[in-house]
Amino acid sequence: MTTTATLPGSPFIAYAAHSQGQHLHVEGVCLADLAREHGTPLFVYSKAAMLSALAAYQRGFAGRKAHICYAMKANSSLAVLQVFAQAGCGFDIVSGGELTRVLAAGGDPAKVIFSGVGKTRAEMQQALNTGIGCFNVESEAELDVLSDVATGLGVQAPVSLRVNPNVDAKTHPYISTGLKGNKFGISHERALQVYQHAASLPGLKVVGIDCHIGSQITETAPYLDAMDRILDLVAEVEAAGITIHHIDFGGGLGINYNGDKPPEADALWAQLLTKLDARGYGQRQLMIEPGRSLVGNAGVCLTEVVFTKPGEQKNFCIVDAAMNDLPRPAMYEAFHQIVPVAPRAGEVVTYDVVGPVCESGDWLGRDRQLVVQSGDVLAVLSAGAYCMSMASNYNTRGRAAEVLVDGDKAHLIRQRESAFDTFALEQLIGV
Ligand code: LLP
Repeated sequence: MTTTATLPGSPFIAYAAHSQGQHLHVEGVCLADLAREHGTPLFVYSKAAMLSALAAYQRGFAGRKAHICYAMKANSSLAVLQVFAQAGCGFDIVSGGELTRVLAAGGDPAKVIFSGVGKTRAEMQQALNTGIGCFNVESEAELDVLSDVATGLGVQAPVSLRVNPNVDAKTHPYISTGLKGNKFGISHERALQVYQHAASLPGLKVVGIDCHIGSQITETAPYLDAMDRILDLVAEVEAAGITIHHIDFGGGLGINYNGDKPPEADALWAQLLTKLDARGYGQRQLMIEPGRSLVGNAGVCLTEVVFTKPGEQKNFCIVDAAMNDLPRPAMYEAFHQIVPVAPRAGEVVTYDVVGPVCESGDWLGRDRQLVVQSGDVLAVLSAGAYCMSMASNYNTRGRAAEVLVDGDKAHLIRQRESAFDTFALEQLIGV
């Protein structure tokens, strides 16, 4: 039987005694009960796990001037944003839609930074009208357009340049962003020139520098390398007479999916701050944009076994969650642990855990050892980040419901989408 010791991630998601044996719980709430009450697939998050992940960053920055801007693309559900807004976080956004969500969740626009390579004029306008804290600009063309839009509104846009430090984050190629071949940021070599251009534009006010080298980073060295490169540039830009008020080191810290051993946020920042102090930048205003490390291990996705199907080469465990709910395995061959919420005795069988979507790529886990029968509920672990926020309606599958657990209370924070919801904006053509 799976024990708590083998579960990656959060101490708030663990097996605990139940009248029928050990059942998986999120905080004080039994997941078998939640699945019965709300149906499956169902995402369940722990508020305590999110706040404890945040606390590691807060400890790391104690005594410093630092803003934590939650990269909400990881999980943009309103109640999740509300938890971070109430804890004092700002937000890293990448679209006008995300900004609208921040406001709906009670976030402070002044603590919002706007990243992304393709901001439209309409999004720039919306962000300027809302009074966001900073635009992380990724190209010269964007600088010109942003200056134009801001001038039109009679304001100056606060900008930071996202510099590509050309550092290998040693992660999956799809989520590595700090290398020369990536579409992100402005090259280190051209950065000074681009800063000078930014400083000359009437609609812009240069306030900072930014970098983000990738995601699911499990080593400290790439961060230290990127920091060195960025600090070299700060010195160069300031020598040219342009003041850099804040330094934003992006997000990217990895989580434990399957025995991964990323540094804790406070340990990582102890090392980074030592370098910053040594180079004389320890008292600067700092910003970070963590996403996955704040929510990834705070959530699970519950899914019911529909059928088991023995095969000649493989046995399949067909569940009611699919690539539209949990796209990471199909997209990145990502690994998520899958465990029963109420372990049963019986013969262990090796299964591929797959969804009902009509694609061979619709798998959630390969070669998993499970004791299961149809009707059992499984929990896909480490599903708090980049799962619900990347979910789709492929195969006209309504998106899952979501529950946020706070102690012994389970709050339904998103209703399950019905088929009608999925086509509510569509129209038949007239005849
Ligand atoms: N800042 C910027 C500019 C970013 O592009 C990202 C993530 C973050 C911050 C937050 O990074 P994090 O702390 O979450 O690693 N869907 C992929 C991950 C894509 C990450 C995109 N950018 C996955 O499921 O692994």
